[in-house]
Amino acid sequence: MNPRKFHLKNFGCQMNKLDSGLLFNALSSRGYVHTEKAGEADIIIINTCSVRQHAEDRVLSHLGHIKHLKKTHPALRVAVIGCMAQRLGEELLQHDSVDIVAGPGQLAEVPRLIDEVFDTHDSRMAITESIRRPDNLEHQQILDEFEMNYDSDKNHIKSQAFIRAMRGCNNFCTYCIVPYVRGPEISRPPEMVLEQARKLVDSGIRQITLLGQSINAYRWQQGDKTWTLADLLEKVSDIAGVHWVRFITSNPGHFDDSILQVMADLPKVCPYLHIPAQSGSDRILKAMNRGYTSAYYMALMDKARATVPDIAIAGDFIVGFPGETHQDYQATAELIRRVRYKNCFIFKYSPRPGTRAEQKLADDIPDELKQQRNMELLEIVNQIAEQDNQRFIGKTLEVLVEGPSKKAHLNAANSDNNPQLIGRTAHDYIVVFNGPASLAGHFVNVSISKTSALTLFGTLV
Ligand code: 5AD
Ligand code: SF4
Repeated sequence: MNPRKFHLKNFGCQMNKLDSGLLFNALSSRGYVHTEKAGEADIIIINTCSVRQHAEDRVLSHLGHIKHLKKTHPALRVAVIGCMAQRLGEELLQHDSVDIVAGPGQLAEVPRLIDEVFDTHDSRMAITESIRRPDNLEHQQILDEFEMNYDSDKNHIKSQAFIRAMRGCNNFCTYCIVPYVRGPEISRPPEMVLEQARKLVDSGIRQITLLGQSINAYRWQQGDKTWTLADLLEKVSDIAGVHWVRFITSNPGHFDDSILQVMADLPKVCPYLHIPAQSGSDRILKAMNRGYTSAYYMALMDKARATVPDIAIAGDFIVGFPGETHQDYQATAELIRRVRYKNCFIFKYSPRPGTRAEQKLADDIPDELKQQRNMELLEIVNQIAEQDNQRFIGKTLEVLVEGPSKKAHLNAANSDNNPQLIGRTAHDYIVVFNGPASLAGHFVNVSISKTSALTLFGTLV
């Protein structure tokens, strides 16, 4: 019999990408063969996100297409995994297209569930029943082993790897679904993270990004010692062969100075902080249960710039949170002007079923107003970045090359016909330049000649 083919579609954040990569390797090692074409697959796996309704709608429309595919390919099986699977459970299993529903906590079971639906022609559901109940150690070990076994350099952009430092979230921001779909906050043992890092470096990885929903909350008790994120960054940075180490995403609440200090002191720790403020209005921050004021946030950013002078700061904001007045919105615009972000992601509030905001507060800001605020804030962010980025003109920056650029940028072909490459600096700036494709995964120096709000352009030195 020919090996079964799988097609894997990923929606959502870095955590999901990581999970999809692990599953890709687990299925490959079980004899399944990957296909880029959904039409050729025996099993389609969709890894889903629930953070906004839009993310869920895209999955549902995808499932609609698959319904047609199933008519012509009756043997096709479909698995929906990830956050939306955990949130909807049985409701998703009722969908005509769906054969398997599995939550993020059941990732390690997915290969077996897939075998089973082929063998039994039955459907399967595996989600966590009481998601906020503290997880048992055995289950954590299963997930950790899955992660260790199936993590590989092949999951990632050349030379770059993501390692999970934490699972779940305990913050309960009132708008956010994450605590209900990824469960309680749990830090992974440092030796596990470090062993994974060493293994990846041995296979050619040069940049490691530590992942967590609120990564600065990383804690691990070992005898008398409490490991923090700063300790973990230091130990990863001690690994010979690691060139850069970074971490996402930080939560402004309880952000210790030690993290800024390792950034300032250790050359391998990238001076880049993704630290969402979400709003600049104290009233809205309170309604969001963020646990800080805008003054606290701005003081923290001032401290970050004082400790790490060239630090690049990125943020997220939600516009149109219930009750957001023009004044609240202005406070957010003001905070953005004060902080001078490298870039920001701006989202329109989307009520998530079961969260406190959805249950207690009416989604009372019309979509057009959310849209307008979204555009205006992006405009402010871009104007500032455009001004600030001009300082790079004439400078030479070290860049980790990702590969050929997918977009046709402004400074297209050069005389020796090298393609356009894209890469990032330690500060996470996107750099576009011409060079041989063989540079993918290497560190190079690029002299910057032109800049825009989101991209720096230059020539290879
Ligand atoms: N509506 C809109 N944006 C949201 N985010 C999280 N939950 C919601 C929601 N319900 C945004 C936050 C977070 C990012 C990952 O998604 O800004 O930082
Ligand atoms: Fe959501 Fe807050 Fe957790 Fe981020 S920190 S995932 S915004 S609950």
